[in-house]
Amino acid sequence: MHLLVLSQENLALSRAEALALCDSRKTLLKNQFLFLDISSNDVNRLRNRLALAKSIHRVLFSCPLKKLKEEMGEVQWMHVIRQDFAVRIHGKTNLTERELGGAIYKKLKRPRVNLENPASLITVFILGKRAFVCLRVHELQEDFQSRRPHLRAMNHPTSMHPRLARAVVNLTGIRKGTLLDPFCGAGGFLIEAGLMGLTYRGLDIDHVMLGRAHVNLGEHSLPSSLDVGDALKIQTALDYVATDLPYSLNTRKSDVKALFEGFMDVLANHLRKRAVVVVPLYKMKSTPAYEKMARRKGLRVKETFEQYVHHMLTRKILVLVHQ
Ligand SMILES: C[S@@+](CC[C@H](N)C(=O)[O-])C[C@H]1O[C@@H](n2cnc3c(N)ncnc32)[C@H](O)[C@@H]1O
Repeated sequence: MHLLVLSQENLALSRAEALALCDSRKTLLKNQFLFLDISSNDVNRLRNRLALAKSIHRVLFSCPLKKLKEEMGEVQWMHVIRQDFAVRIHGKTNLTERELGGAIYKKLKRPRVNLENPASLITVFILGKRAFVCLRVHELQEDFQSRRPHLRAMNHPTSMHPRLARAVVNLTGIRKGTLLDPFCGAGGFLIEAGLMGLTYRGLDIDHVMLGRAHVNLGEHSLPSSLDVGDALKIQTALDYVATDLPYSLNTRKSDVKALFEGFMDVLANHLRKRAVVVVPLYKMKSTPAYEKMARRKGLRVKETFEQYVHHMLTRKILVLVHQ
């Protein structure tokens, strides 16, 4: 069993991202802690790709909190600890990290404590009256901040934060095959796909935008798999799609609606696996009934999420498959 500590800003989205990236036989969410029964392949995929999580841990054992100290003394810690170690407790208990560390210390031949940067971090999560004693597998430290759109060579105001862009790509569940962003703009989704080692293609009706995407991909030494074209005229099979439809507040509602409907036709005819489509929810105008429109075209809305952007705009994320 593994435990993921999820980002809390949008827990439903964080959970969905993690589940899309693994084939967990059992899952359980308690607060921001997601328990997963997963293979080592899944663990590797999660550690290489997750955007909306903080850390991954392997659960060594769990027990009633009142038995924690005693149970810590029963573990063959020499088989768990590499080089040096530290203990960290998350949650409320009268026990101290020092006390629990002592139980480990006694079991090792040459114990070495390293509070700063331990090779083995034992994390104890207290959830209600139970303790989950874990070994940290990975701390997620992807540097999204340095990839924020305004720091790119070619900025464009409609690009979203790379952490969210990566989560949208991951929601498609893609492991292999090609990801298409048919409204790719300055290339935010493509950069994240490329940095995760995925094959991608970008399409945009505006060649100036594609020029921006070309430069931005080049900054990361990623290939320019880009074409000028109209997303509404796609005639080829699509496996995975991640895209963000135009949503300038200057765009008339009827335009947004017509574009969305036209694109739902394309997905209904050509989508083979999964599409994640981001659309705007306006504060000042009535919003098109996206889910209804998608269903009417013969698509199944598997999940939806909302992500606040600013007081005038919230983004809606639709996960679509065939009915
Ligand atoms: C919201 S932006 C995409 C932003 C992008 N995710 C990024 O990271 O920069 C939408 C893009 O859709 C493009 N677009 C509008 N209508 C289109 C159509 N019919 N076919 C393809 N692209 C279109 C626009 O040129 C614009 O670049």
